[in-house]
Parts: sequence; C-alpha cells; structure tokens
Amino acid sequence: MTDTREITLTVNGTEHTIDVEPRQLLVHAIREELDLTGTHIGCDTGNCGACTVLKDGEPIKSCLMFATQADGSELMTVEGMEDLPEAGEDLHPLQEGFREEHGLQCGYCTPGMLMSGKALLDENPDPSEEEIREAISGNLCRCTGYQNIVRSIEYAAEELEAGEIAAADGGVVTDADGSTITPAEMTDADGEFDCGVENCCGGPMTDRDHDSIAGGESE
Ligand code: FES
Ligand code: FES
Repeated sequence: MTDTREITLTVNGTEHTIDVEPRQLLVHAIREELDLTGTHIGCDTGNCGACTVLKDGEPIKSCLMFATQADGSELMTVEGMEDLPEAGEDLHPLQEGFREEHGLQCGYCTPGMLMSGKALLDENPDPSEEEIREAISGNLCRCTGYQNIVRSIEYAAEELEAGEIAAADGGVVTDADGSTITPAEMTDADGEFDCGVENCCGGPMTDRDHDSIAGGESE
C-alpha cells in the first residue's frame, strides 16, 4: 500500500485537502491532484522556470519542492489571474500585455513568466528594464526572445498604474482632447462599461493564444 500524507493547500483562494505521496513534487500535485495544468513542466530540475507559481506571494519553482513542504501555504497559479481585482472582467493586465506585445509564441514558458512578472509588479510597480530582466532571469523562453516579454511586463506596469490613477480619481478618465469622462458616460447601449480605448475596459480583443495566457487547456 502506498504511503500518503494529507495536506491542505489554498490555491487561487480555494482551500483543497488532498492526499499526496511524500515524494510527490508540488508541480505534480498542482497538475495531477488539482487538475490545474496551466502550470507547466519543462525540465523537472529547476532550470527552466515553466513551473513557477506564487507561494505565499513569492515566486517559486514548484518542481523543486515536495507537495508536503507546501502544506498550509497559499498558492497562486496562472488560472487565478483572471479572478484578481485588477483583471476587471477579462484578462489581468499582465496577460493583456503578453497578448498585445506578442510576448509568446508556443506559450510554454508563459505561465511561469506571468507568475514571475506578477511577483515583480507586486513588489515594484514601476520596474526598469534591467529589473524586469533580473526578475525573469530564472525563466527560459526558447522561442519568443526576451525583448517582447520585457515589453509585455512594461505594458502591464503602465496599465496597472493607469488603473490606480483612474481609481484615485473616482474612475474619471481623461480623453485624448483633455476632456474628462465619467464611468456613467462610458456605458454603451447595452449597459456594458466601455471606455472606448481598444483592449481596455472590455474593448475589442483577439483570441490569440488565450489558453496560454489564461491557463485554460494548456497541458
Ligand atoms: S519544470 Fe521546474 S524549473 Fe523547469
Ligand atoms: S518557450 Fe515558447 S513562448 Fe517561450
């Protein structure tokens, strides 16, 4: 009979109690026991960063830790990004950034990049290019190249800052001609909030690689 241990993990805000083998890696518990396959496995040896998740707010490589070592902790995976308050009704600004700045091709590294980017922006909302490169230095991308990934994170930093300024102004947005618009004035005929800026506040979006940035069907 296989020896198992009961552990409790709070993942993306939901508490799970699961049985795991003592030697089961955290990444395998996330993918196989919780069915959250947005967290990828690239090497299983701590080299690629594809398995990066946030553990109690810190980015960790989940292939370098046994699931039992994470007992009692709070985890965040890519699947949780769309539920964050700053995601509005759709994607988190970081996910939007990867879509807008073409920060992915095959998307394999993307969940890990998003988690490292999230940890960076939580700690440093206005990072320099050098600081972004340092933050993602443990995440390898075999196809996109890092320039677009850096731009994606810069995009998110700008979007998050703009959102904070708008919130501080009571949601008032300054239009291109300098006039201001209130949220009530940005409601369309169907009552949907739309600020009129492309890819902002529910504006037009493409579905390019949605699964990679949202952790949907990714395997
Ligand atoms: S799978 Fe964990 S670092 Fe590569
Ligand atoms: S590994 Fe393919 S997009 Fe990074």
